[in-house]
Amino acid sequence: MCGIIGYIGESSAAENLLDGLKNLEYRGYDSAGIALNDNNRLKIFKAAGKLNNLCQIIRTEPRENTVAECGIGHIRWATHGLPNLENAHPHRSADGNLALVHNGIIENYLELRKELSADGYHFTSQTDTEAIVHLIDRELKNGAGFEDAVQNAVRLLDGAFALGIVYRQEPDKLIAVKKNAPLIIGIGQHENFIASDIAALLGKAEKIVRMEDGEIAVIRRGEIKITDFAGKQVMRQPELLQLSAESIDKGGYKHFMLKEIHEQPGIIRALLADGLQIDTGSLRDFNRIEIIACGTSLHAALAAAPLFEDWCRCEVSVQPASEYIYKKQRTGADTLVIGISQSGETADTITALKQAQKSNAQVLVLTNRPDSSIVRYADKVITLQAGIEVSVAATKSYTAQLLRLYQLALALAKDKNFLSSEEISGLHNALRQIPVKIEEILAEEEKIKNVAKKYARFPAMAYIARGQQLPSAMEGALKLKEISYINACAYAAGELKHGPIALLDANMPVAAVLCRQAPTYAKTLSNCEEAKARKAPVIIFSDQIPQGNFDDIVLLPQNCEEFAPLTEAAALQLFAYFIADELGREIDQPRNLAKSVTVE
Ligand code: F6R
Repeated sequence: MCGIIGYIGESSAAENLLDGLKNLEYRGYDSAGIALNDNNRLKIFKAAGKLNNLCQIIRTEPRENTVAECGIGHIRWATHGLPNLENAHPHRSADGNLALVHNGIIENYLELRKELSADGYHFTSQTDTEAIVHLIDRELKNGAGFEDAVQNAVRLLDGAFALGIVYRQEPDKLIAVKKNAPLIIGIGQHENFIASDIAALLGKAEKIVRMEDGEIAVIRRGEIKITDFAGKQVMRQPELLQLSAESIDKGGYKHFMLKEIHEQPGIIRALLADGLQIDTGSLRDFNRIEIIACGTSLHAALAAAPLFEDWCRCEVSVQPASEYIYKKQRTGADTLVIGISQSGETADTITALKQAQKSNAQVLVLTNRPDSSIVRYADKVITLQAGIEVSVAATKSYTAQLLRLYQLALALAKDKNFLSSEEISGLHNALRQIPVKIEEILAEEEKIKNVAKKYARFPAMAYIARGQQLPSAMEGALKLKEISYINACAYAAGELKHGPIALLDANMPVAAVLCRQAPTYAKTLSNCEEAKARKAPVIIFSDQIPQGNFDDIVLLPQNCEEFAPLTEAAALQLFAYFIADELGREIDQPRNLAKSVTVE
């Protein structure tokens, strides 16, 4: 969360910083700010709320005030302190000579604050970041040069930090620091950048240099010098930036989320054509699997876990990363740990995987970002190849995760010889039908929209399902609550009568997810009848028209129970999307959320 950017070159720093921040906005939108370092003037512009508020300020500013060829920028997702102007970055030293942007968390900031206050420093924000500015300033006041001051100060910091720093007296220089938070350097024509994510560099930089933890980069227009925190020089070759600017374009859709939902058949087709692209032979001997993930990625894990149990006869445990970290585990050398993270930057998942590695477990990571931090903790990596997902709500990365997990379970089942070759080829055939089935759902988009519109004004909704369909219901409820702010909860359908049924009345619709092939189909349908008997409106998502008198039916293409979560996902995503759209929500950037959750 939070995104940082920096620019030094021959053109307008303000324009480059704002362009870059636009592509980082998915990382947070509580406030935005830039600092421009022009000959002898260090100017800071900030605005609470979305980036657009900052853009408006810059637009109305006299041009001479925004002229600069060096600067830093920030987009905030609040951790320490309210999302207001005071706490917005960049933060500056009291004399106005130094400005700094930060992504991450300084764990010892309270001690540093105390120490700096005792030294006479006055704090104007509640952020942990302000302590870093004062630390560097103290070094400068003690006579250190810019680079040494940064080096001395960052050695005193505990926690995670990616920093961009400018100093009024040295406008030909931008300093970047990285430890446990993502940061890359972009190289253009007579200009260089820093950014939290490649997305901010698309269409700007031709090459990139990946910074490693514990490194400081001193960046000039035509020169990049990287050292470690001890000052030892590091040599690293730039890589070509492979992605194009089109990969983060809405392509005519009203929202990125809708575009990304529509990309799913193509992504699945490509994944099926490419295969897993890792050697699973060495994984054959594991009989214990732990899957660790958060949010939507956790739902993908829950959907796939029964297949690893059934096809590979493995003992499988699925755990939210934030819980795994604090629970006694029996992870050991006999365990295959699978970490799933779309962004590859989720702090909870990364911490859990670090812990798993210490227990000598084999770690396999599924991520959409092979350039992300998580891959450092992996023995093997499977990429989702879903393209950059801009919408904060995960859609295409979820179905790509499901598909990859199914491919992995099938590969292990084959290696372990627990399924016959006929069974395996039958399952592969079923997977190959999925893209067409999702296309059929997308073709019925208008029907789903009309159903969704009817449910947009209810204050809450319950999702129910059993067995393999339960993770679909959980994911459907998550999608609805995060983009529409309607309180949605998922329940195992059989649990309804043990408590949640007390909530049901004519104001509490129930969305039920069913698969005709599942042994629980009839039982779940009975639970739907029970909901109807309490006057709850019932919407059925099923691949068979059910008997009974329900309010709405979203008919899905017929699917086997194992792979039904893929088709169910597409329909439930559209349902949530159209409800949120009907309510006029900011679908791609829901309140309080960020795409990369880099704090625990
Ligand atoms: C929901 C959503 C989040 C993420 C979760 C984990 O739409 O996007 O629940 O799934 O924050 O993120 P990753 O997969 O990047 O680790």
